[in-house]
Amino acid sequence: MLNIALPKGRLGEKVYAMFEAAGFECPSIKEPGRKLIFENEENQVRYFWVKPSDVAIYVERGAADIGVAGKDILLEYEPRVYELLDLNLGKCRMAVAAPRDFYDDGEKTLRVATKFTNIAAGYYGGLGRDIDIIKLNGSIEIAPILGLSDVIVDIVETGTTLKENDLEVIETIVPISARLIANKAGFQFKRAQIEKIQQSLKAQVEHHD
Ligand code: PRP
Repeated sequence: MLNIALPKGRLGEKVYAMFEAAGFECPSIKEPGRKLIFENEENQVRYFWVKPSDVAIYVERGAADIGVAGKDILLEYEPRVYELLDLNLGKCRMAVAAPRDFYDDGEKTLRVATKFTNIAAGYYGGLGRDIDIIKLNGSIEIAPILGLSDVIVDIVETGTTLKENDLEVIETIVPISARLIANKAGFQFKRAQIEKIQQSLKAQVEHHD
């Protein structure tokens, strides 16, 4: 059995549909209910739903052989996994945003609110800019409105959340999308099976382009 960690939620539905189209279907996953693990012996696959930000942990530690994680999570936590394929799903970007009237004279320490402290530190470190990082766990957009921070580093997809909170993107840091990842040891043991899935998914990605 190949253990596959899928990100629970809207992205996960699309990811599973891609595995299904690639020939690795598991019909029981579509049955209503709250079960989290599904197997198809014929295809030798076992899928399980985990919180999107936890996929890389399962894969890094080998509880899953492969999984699908956002590039944001891979950049932030730098798990020791192989990144095998860009699935071209869940496309968005990591960006710096600020209130529309924000002016940065570049002199003061910049207060940056974010969930992605490693990405923010790397980005501003590269610019040689001193920052004060304020780690938050959600509703990041509120921080500059209430004066908790000057800017935010967060994911922007449609831009609606920023717009409705009178913020705007001032810099794009990096484009983000969902990636197929593999456990390093598992990739050696189960190489043929993993490469077969990788190739079939790649054909799906190209078919959608
Ligand atoms: C992200 C991000 C923004 C929103 C951006 O949150 O933190 O709040 O999506 O999307 P938009 O540009 O289309 O408005 P997400 O929904 O991933 O949940 P989170 O609050 O748990 O991070």
